Amino acid sequence: MVARPPSSQLPQEGSSFVKARVRYVKPPAPGDVLTSHVYEQPDGTKPDNLEHVPTEVTLTDLRQLQGQSFDLLVNGFSLVNFIVPADIDWESDDKVRSQYYPLAADLLKHHSGGSRIHVFDHTLRLGKARDDSDAKGETPGNRRIPASRVHTDYTTHGGVARLKALLPDEAKHLMKTPFAIYQIWRPLKEKVEESPLGFIDAATVDNKDFNVHRIEFPGRTGHNYALSPNPNHRWYYTKGMEPDEAYVFVEYDSRKGRARFTPHTGFKDPTSAPDAPPRESVELRALVFWENDVPQAPALEL
Ligand code: OGA
Ligand code: FE
Repeated sequence: MVARPPSSQLPQEGSSFVKARVRYVKPPAPGDVLTSHVYEQPDGTKPDNLEHVPTEVTLTDLRQLQGQSFDLLVNGFSLVNFIVPADIDWESDDKVRSQYYPLAADLLKHHSGGSRIHVFDHTLRLGKARDDSDAKGETPGNRRIPASRVHTDYTTHGGVARLKALLPDEAKHLMKTPFAIYQIWRPLKEKVEESPLGFIDAATVDNKDFNVHRIEFPGRTGHNYALSPNPNHRWYYTKGMEPDEAYVFVEYDSRKGRARFTPHTGFKDPTSAPDAPPRESVELRALVFWENDVPQAPALEL
């Protein structure tokens, strides 16, 4: 007979996992490219050709996973401790650059083993994840609301393009050895309750789940991958994530054979209190270089 744990030890919704709705997309018809226009078009055309697929998924609370550790290189993300001074002036981008970026660079150096870190931007998010929030969520600039579509932030070409745009004089040289874009995401000052960030374990994503998504900003075109559903995806989040915790995650890696793009989204936690405050979070992106590793050209295929 199979021994069963007493019912008090069975996984409980809201403690070890939560069932919630996330939004995937339908893959485009052959020959089409998923495209969003961040601002409504003057001719009144529909701002995007995406068909969303709202899907209920089960997200496991990382805190309940005793003994299972997540590896950045395999799963694409990890939950780490990160103590940040309480008096950072988040309203001032200059202060964030001088007070927060150096701490973030140290943390990334520690977790990546890279030889050089170049922090290049940060974004504050305030609000609740909503199903109709795409356009506002993708507004350029560094004040946004939580995202509500399953996505990655870069593509195979996007990572290289970002390096060339940020460090034009050095890019040719820096592209010869492995490089990546990593992110640090954390609650700004208070515990996150209502709209946490969820991740798909990168090891459970198939290349066919990635759909190139073109995003037209005024004067600039960006690309990411919008994910289509796959029952193999394993989802994770952290219930009541605290400001001394952070996610480090892989947004792009020039190497094949490891976690390269870690899909994520904000979502409404249906077990959070109805009067839970809107989420406030900060995300920061950095190029990571392994200049002493074996030379290797960036892989431009998935
Ligand atoms: C990100 C992101 C969404 C959110 O950090 O890249 O998509 O809701 N965040 O915080
Ligand atoms: Fe993102």
